[in-house]
Amino acid sequence: MHALRQSSLFPGLSGELEIPKPVNVASVPQRSPFRYPGGKTWFVPTFRHWLEDKYPKPSILVEPFAGGGIITLTALFENLVEKAVMVELDEEIAAVWKSIIRGDAEWLANRVLTFDLTKESVIRELKKRPNTQREKAFQTILKNRTFHGGILAKGSGFLKYGENGKGIHSRWYPGTLAKRLLNLKHIANRIDFRCDDGLKVMREFATNRAAVFFIDPPYTAGGKKAGKRLYKHYDLDHEQLFTLVETLKGDFLMTYDNAEEVKRMARIHGFEMRLIPMTNTHHATMEELVIGKDLSWMDGSPAVHEPEAEYVTRIIKKDGQKNRSRGTQRKSAAPLSFVDWDKI
Ligand SMILES: C[S@@+](CC[C@H](N)C(=O)[O-])C[C@H]1O[C@@H](n2cnc3c(N)ncnc32)[C@H](O)[C@@H]1O
Repeated sequence: MHALRQSSLFPGLSGELEIPKPVNVASVPQRSPFRYPGGKTWFVPTFRHWLEDKYPKPSILVEPFAGGGIITLTALFENLVEKAVMVELDEEIAAVWKSIIRGDAEWLANRVLTFDLTKESVIRELKKRPNTQREKAFQTILKNRTFHGGILAKGSGFLKYGENGKGIHSRWYPGTLAKRLLNLKHIANRIDFRCDDGLKVMREFATNRAAVFFIDPPYTAGGKKAGKRLYKHYDLDHEQLFTLVETLKGDFLMTYDNAEEVKRMARIHGFEMRLIPMTNTHHATMEELVIGKDLSWMDGSPAVHEPEAEYVTRIIKKDGQKNRSRGTQRKSAAPLSFVDWDKI
């Protein structure tokens, strides 16, 4: 990974800190038919690194908030796992995954290739009431490719200017899309897709030691609005998710926004955290949180700075008596165990 040199946040400790550069998403194979808001293409290299180090190879990947599914697709195409369970509550997104898995990828690819896209033809198509799952899937692809930011949630609308002022056409690449859909035929029989609650499906696999979990929930913890604007289903009990994740026998990785409320929950549940740079849709570099049981394999990434906790020490007098009133001192606690200060 490329690295940027940046002044340390904690000057007394390390002088200079190596911060990894955001991943160039153009270097990651785009396998999903979706352009997904909050999609994790930029996380693919880190995800690979996590699974490549695992021995024995996990047999099942469970992705309880699958969305555009780039992580599951990468895991299957690159044989990082044998099979995957994808879960997504949004029925429109689900229609696409179900159609692909049930053998309609070719029909969808044909529909994409032969559709004459204009604003009027899209409006006409979207007014139709779909009679079959594959028709619903096509409508979803159409919306995802012509709506602002690929957003299907209420309040979204057509791309106005898009790339290079091409408006509604700017994300419609029929040839590329058709190719991606057809490629999915090679792995479709290794996907178990559920249009269901991700937490419920995680419970089903909680005791399975051969399962690994990639968990990318809507970012709404602590009342944050980002996830609310992007998804139809954004309401999530994050505390319940963390409690459930703690019971998983298999390993997991969670990605979240770098929010205080999220870090608080991760600490309470005894998880490790690292920061990872990403470039958002406005080309600004931000940091997201990676949360897991043991993230020592991510030692190149900065640890999350923990606030200095204070605790009370008891002075033991020479005669062995404890003295709490006169001798009580307040000291800075040693950093919590998941901060590896040597690595900062
Ligand atoms: C951050 S996005 C996932 C993006 C995905 N990792 C990708 O790369 O495209 C979160 C997804 O969770 C879905 N979702 C929200 N609540 C859910 C639930 N309880 N069960 C399953 N999916 C849910 C949303 O519809 C949204 O697609």
